[in-house]
Amino acid sequence: MVVVCKELSNGVLFPAVNLGTWQLQASDAGEVFSASFASGCRGLDGARYYTNEEELGPVLNQYCEGAGADGRVDLKKFGSMNTDHVPARFKVVTDDEYNANFVLPHGKPSDDRRIFVTTKIWPSDFDSEEKIRSSVEAHLKAYKRDQTDLILLHWPGPHCNLPNFTEEQMKDPKNAETRLGAWKVLEKLYREKKTRAIGVSNFMPQHLTPLIEDIKKRAADITAPSVPVMCNQVEGSPWIQGFRDIVEVCDNNNIAISVYRPIGGRRRPEKGPIVAEIAAKYKKPEGNVLIRWALQKGFVVLPKTSKPDRARSNMDLFSFQIEDQDMKTLDGLFMSKSDPTQDPYAIA
Ligand SMILES: NC(=O)c1ccc[n+]([C@@H]2O[C@H](COP(=O)([O-])OP(=O)(O)OC[C@H]3O[C@@H](n4cnc5c(N)ncnc54)[C@H](OP(=O)(O)O)[C@@H]3O)[C@@H](O)[C@H]2O)c1
Repeated sequence: MVVVCKELSNGVLFPAVNLGTWQLQASDAGEVFSASFASGCRGLDGARYYTNEEELGPVLNQYCEGAGADGRVDLKKFGSMNTDHVPARFKVVTDDEYNANFVLPHGKPSDDRRIFVTTKIWPSDFDSEEKIRSSVEAHLKAYKRDQTDLILLHWPGPHCNLPNFTEEQMKDPKNAETRLGAWKVLEKLYREKKTRAIGVSNFMPQHLTPLIEDIKKRAADITAPSVPVMCNQVEGSPWIQGFRDIVEVCDNNNIAISVYRPIGGRRRPEKGPIVAEIAAKYKKPEGNVLIRWALQKGFVVLPKTSKPDRARSNMDLFSFQIEDQDMKTLDGLFMSKSDPTQDPYAIA
C-alpha cells in the first residue's frame, strides 16, 4: 500500500488528504473514519475550537487499537488510493516508509500510530503560555498521545474569545506581538517533542512576513534556536482563493499550504453549470473535481464529510487529471481572496 504525502521542511510526511473534522459528531465519526482510512486517507484536521477532540480522540483510538497481538494497528483496515495521476510537489511513499517517518524529527513516539493529527490553538489562548500548554495537553489527552503531529495558530487575531471580532480587537496594535509570543510557545513545544511540526492558519502576508523575519533573526540563537513555519492553512476553493497572496512567500520559505473548505463548505454559492460540466467530462462527482483542483495546485486538502459514502468517494482524487484549460475555467470562478464574514486581512 502507498500514501500520497507532502514533505514538510523538516522531513515530516504530511498526508495530501486529511479528513476535516469541523462539526463532525462522534456518532458519525466511527463509520466516516473507517470509510476514509480504508480509502487511503491518513490524516485528521482538527482544532480546540471545534470542541469535539474529546469525542473524536476515543473514536480514533478505538479504530486503531487492539488489532494485533503486539498492539499494532490492523494494516488491513488501511487502504491505498489509486495513484496514476499524482500532481507535482507530492510524493508517493510506501506504507513502510510512511510509518517509519513517524520517528522524524524527534525519535519514535511511544504510541504506535498511522494517522497524522492536526490541532489548532485558538487566539484567546495566545496571550498566555500556560493557556497554550493546557490546550495542547487537553488535545494530547483526548487522543491518548504523548506527541501530536501538527499544531497551528488558528487565526491571526488575538485578544478575542468569539468569531465575532470587534473592530477594536481586529486593529489592536498588540496583535503582532501577541502572535509572536504564541509562536515562541509553539517553538518550545516543538523542541520539547510535543509535536512533530508547527505552523499557522489564515496568516496573510501582513502576518506571515514579519513572523518569518523574526524567526530568521533568531535562527542562530544557541540556547533556543527558532523553528521555521512549516505549514500555513488557508481557505481554498475556486470561489474563495485565500492562498493567492501567500503562495510566493510560502514557496520562498518552504512552507506547505493546506486548504480548507475545498468543496466550498456551507457558504459555497450554487455550483452552477461550470463545475457540473467539468465533472461530467471527467465522469467524477463535482466534489472530487473541486478537491482535485486544489491538489493540482500543490496544496494539501482537508475535505470534511459526515457521510461514509462521501468519505469513500471523496478520496478518489489521483485516478484522473484536470486539463489545463479546465483548471483555468475553475480559476475563473474566483469571487474573493477571503470570506467577508471571516476576513483575516482585517486583522492588524
Ligand atoms: N483553519 C480554519 O480556519 C478552518 C476553517 C474552516 C474549516 N477548516 C477545516 O477544513 C475542513 C473542511 O472545511 P469545511 O468543513 O468548512 O468545508 P468542505 O470540506 O469544503 O465542505 C464540507 C461540507 O460539504 C459537504 N460535502 C462533503 N463532501 C461532499 C461532496 N462530495 N459533495 C457535496 N457536498 C459534500 C459536507 O456535508 P456532509 O458532512 O453532509 O457530507 C459539508 O457540509 C473543516 O472540517 C476543518 O477541519 C479550517
